[in-house]
Amino acid sequence: MSTQQLDKRWWHNSVVYQIYPRSFNDANGDGIGDIPGIIDKLDYIAELGANVIWLSPVYQSPMDDNGYDISDYQKIAPEFGTMADMDRLIAEADKRGIKIVMDLVVNHTSDEHPWFIESRSSKDSPKRDWYIWKDPKPDGSEPNNWESFFKPKAWTLDENTGQYYLHLFSNKQPDLNWANPEVREAVYDMMHFWLKKGLGGFRMDVINMIGKPSDYPDATIFDQGVAGWEHWSNNLLVHQYLREMHDKVLKHYDVLTVGETPFTTTLDGRYYSHPDRNEISMIFQFEHVSIDREEHNAVKKPFDLVQYKEIMTRWQEDLYQKGWNSLYWSNHDQPRTVSRYGCDSAKYRVVSAKMLGTVLHMMSGTPYIYQGEEIGMTNKHFDSIDEFNDLMAKFHYQKMRDRGVSDADALAFLNDFSRDHARVPVQWNDQLNAGFTSGTPWLPVNDNYPEINAAQAVKDDDSIYHHYRRLIALRQGEQYGDVIVYGEHQLLDPQDSEVYAYIRSHKGKSLLTIANFSGNSVVRSYSGSVKQQVINNYPETVESLTEMALKPYQALVIELE
Ligand code: GLC
Ligand code: CA
Repeated sequence: MSTQQLDKRWWHNSVVYQIYPRSFNDANGDGIGDIPGIIDKLDYIAELGANVIWLSPVYQSPMDDNGYDISDYQKIAPEFGTMADMDRLIAEADKRGIKIVMDLVVNHTSDEHPWFIESRSSKDSPKRDWYIWKDPKPDGSEPNNWESFFKPKAWTLDENTGQYYLHLFSNKQPDLNWANPEVREAVYDMMHFWLKKGLGGFRMDVINMIGKPSDYPDATIFDQGVAGWEHWSNNLLVHQYLREMHDKVLKHYDVLTVGETPFTTTLDGRYYSHPDRNEISMIFQFEHVSIDREEHNAVKKPFDLVQYKEIMTRWQEDLYQKGWNSLYWSNHDQPRTVSRYGCDSAKYRVVSAKMLGTVLHMMSGTPYIYQGEEIGMTNKHFDSIDEFNDLMAKFHYQKMRDRGVSDADALAFLNDFSRDHARVPVQWNDQLNAGFTSGTPWLPVNDNYPEINAAQAVKDDDSIYHHYRRLIALRQGEQYGDVIVYGEHQLLDPQDSEVYAYIRSHKGKSLLTIANFSGNSVVRSYSGSVKQQVINNYPETVESLTEMALKPYQALVIELE
């Protein structure tokens, strides 16, 4: 047995709150959330106990993908505010012990970034090689068969120069050529610019896709993800670039870095996050958010708790002392947590949301809370394709229709999985537009805001918000902090398809988490005896682990003797 211990880092017991600025809070009434609106809500986040905010992009952007298409990395989009607002946000957050983590979107820029405008202007442009330009095949078709996440093909022909450029996302998001050292230096300079302002770090957008093999081979695997992924995700190049980024930038600051990395295994997770490899702090893996759908083909699958437990346990165990986990149910690309994994009916919304929070917050890693999750916001119903805003929803709809899927079935899929669910404005109170804006919200609010809103949740000591606050306090507290953050993980009863039970143990302390994922009452027994109950989403105190009657969606944490 290894006696090696991970060095403690400040972000090990941090809790991150993610803000999607467009949908968070609008201070000036133009219907779009903004930085001053975020500043107004810092106390709300501080009282919840989160000590890091991950801010989705606020940079200048034509907003083809709501800011994930950046046209100037060192300017703030006017609809979000000014650089002075951004500096004030960093300072005001700091006063409350909160660090700001910004989104680093450097797999691609906007096609309206001056770098790309220069690059596309001629084959001899000094910036031609900053992006990925290739000649057509002899028949005029694309250089290879790669697909894009947002378009049928990953290549668009530029008539002016007769070459194709690569874009793994929309045609307005051309991929940067990381093989070019000038590109890398430009990115590193930009990172220093932000880090010198006192940022807490970066969330790195699709960072595992930056390494493109120089021979651009055809895809051969068509049944998983976007065609081409086996060539450009998690290859040796990305690790080399990240180590260089660490050496030239990150090692000079004490920051949290989290890579967004679809298609990763736990071995990849160790490569990225093992501290001795000097790459990044942690990654977002995608296995657990892929078990209830086949995203590429837009097909829904039933959520399987046994599979979920297997995935989470594998990540907990494989990275133990060898890397670091991030923990999340949702983000701006995923549907609402309680609607997807719990039950959003009036009867069970509150308990099931608390159950899901409990399961996640008792694991090892850094938890991420997506705005509105802490009050149990639900998916909104969209009646027609025209009501969606997201370019990905429109693309998936068209793909499904082309395959012969009916309008009703395509809408049903989007009503389960569209990214727009996460982007519906935050419900602050029961007033006009849920208190999000005094104007017309850019995306309509959910009708259920009179019941589900932050003002109600803060007032009600029994709310999801206060349950999350207590979970965060446990992680950051003296009594259980180390066992929650650093303890070993042991899954109980892997085949139990209704209840998730696991033990965390560290230096003689053991915590047993028991969560009923079903809407039924079930009876279970566990070995060991109760020292004390730590938290419970039902008002009762459990004293024995024998023949326990678990209520629908009940979740509790017990300190074992
Ligand atoms: C990431 C972002 C997503 C964005 C895409 C392209 O997946 O989370 O919102 O559309 O990258 O930047
Ligand atoms: Ca605004």
